[in-house]
Amino acid sequence: MAQADIQSRAGRSRDTLYRESLPYEHGFEPLRVEGELPAELRGTLYRDGPGLFELFGRRYGHPFEGDGVITAVRLEAGQACGAARIIESRGLVHERAAGRMIYGFSAPAAQRLLNVAQRRQGKNTGNTNVIWWQGRLFALMEAARPTEIAPDGLATLGETDLGGIIRGAFSAHPHRVPTRRAMYNIGLRYGKQTYLDLYELPDSGQARHVGSLSLTYAPMIHDFMVTGNHVVLLLSPVRIRVMRTMLQMGPFHRIFEWTPRLGTEVIAAPIDALDRAIRFHTDAFFQWHYANAFERDGRLVVDIVRYRNFDTMLGFISDNGYAPGTFHRITIDPERRALDSAQLSDVPCEFPRLHPDVEAGEYRYAWLTIHGGGGIGRLDVDTGELVEYLFDDLQSASEPVFVPRAGARSETDGYVLTLVYDGRSHTSFLAVIDGQRLPDGPVARAFFDHHIPATFHGNWVAST
Ligand SMILES: [Fe+2]
Repeated sequence: MAQADIQSRAGRSRDTLYRESLPYEHGFEPLRVEGELPAELRGTLYRDGPGLFELFGRRYGHPFEGDGVITAVRLEAGQACGAARIIESRGLVHERAAGRMIYGFSAPAAQRLLNVAQRRQGKNTGNTNVIWWQGRLFALMEAARPTEIAPDGLATLGETDLGGIIRGAFSAHPHRVPTRRAMYNIGLRYGKQTYLDLYELPDSGQARHVGSLSLTYAPMIHDFMVTGNHVVLLLSPVRIRVMRTMLQMGPFHRIFEWTPRLGTEVIAAPIDALDRAIRFHTDAFFQWHYANAFERDGRLVVDIVRYRNFDTMLGFISDNGYAPGTFHRITIDPERRALDSAQLSDVPCEFPRLHPDVEAGEYRYAWLTIHGGGGIGRLDVDTGELVEYLFDDLQSASEPVFVPRAGARSETDGYVLTLVYDGRSHTSFLAVIDGQRLPDGPVARAFFDHHIPATFHGNWVAST
């Protein structure tokens, strides 16, 4: 089947995923299982994404504005249970009590004027990623603080600043560095001067603010990367229109401005000495996500899903025919302040994930959503070979989360978990795929009796 056909059939399902709200919430309930769930797979997959697309009959203008929904699938002894709950942010609780939309760029104009006059902050929807840290579960979005979620019932416990260390926002893309036994994340602080804060969340002990970098304008930064020694940013020129944002002038997608003349700024700084950052500019390109980064022969190797521009932002709400992202390797030479960019595969892809043990180091395989959700791919980053599995017509897969088998001996020795929407039955299911037999497709499926709206990111938490 031609790439365009695969993309378009997955695209039809994608429209539903970004438009139709979660039909109802529930705690853990048994899911119908087809196939055989591996008994050794014991734990919970947590997923996060926008799941409420309208409030009191008023639609959000962009799916990124949607209230977050946490979905969980728990696997135990070959059985599956599933739960899905809307994140009850302070803002959403306020709106429900008032019986109308109050926050954001889709609220009525008079309400937005009032919000500006009253200096009312935006809503923390927590709709992008869900992470596990020191036995606690947090929903993240890039413009706000983490929201703590109860792991068992998925109840919203509330916003946290992690013991007073978060100065501004805490983005949705923390990355773990196994050699440092810590997770790192960034957050932006907008003001007269915009700062990027780096945070460290160690496997044990207190979280800490590592340091800050000043930025030359107010950008949108979705993701970043970290190697064993360096924090790396490919700062694509998406500027926040500050006045529009302050005046809450919608629509949402227009607060961002693609400014290619600024180029992409490359920033690489030692984690332990941010003031020794190397910075230079190159031609403009955009990425939502990085796959991995590591150091080799004094160079920084950074793998990303690269786009020509920022058209994907509008592509969520209109068929603007944007060019999909493809997997690229960016090699940065800090001494020459130069980079080289090579496309490793021409297959459209997104949502890269790896075996957790090889993050921030040399690695061989990236797991990807390919063809706009029509399939899952395993890219060999050494050879460029892409092994794939395509889902059935009208099925759309989410980010593939790789779970190593206990005692795994290779990067592919484990299971790939992806939440799939089936447009024919209008339900979602968890697909469990053997990482060494990807083309065979799922060894088991666990079905919800309803659909789960789009989930962007999530993580597996093994049972202890
Ligand atoms: Fe993301």
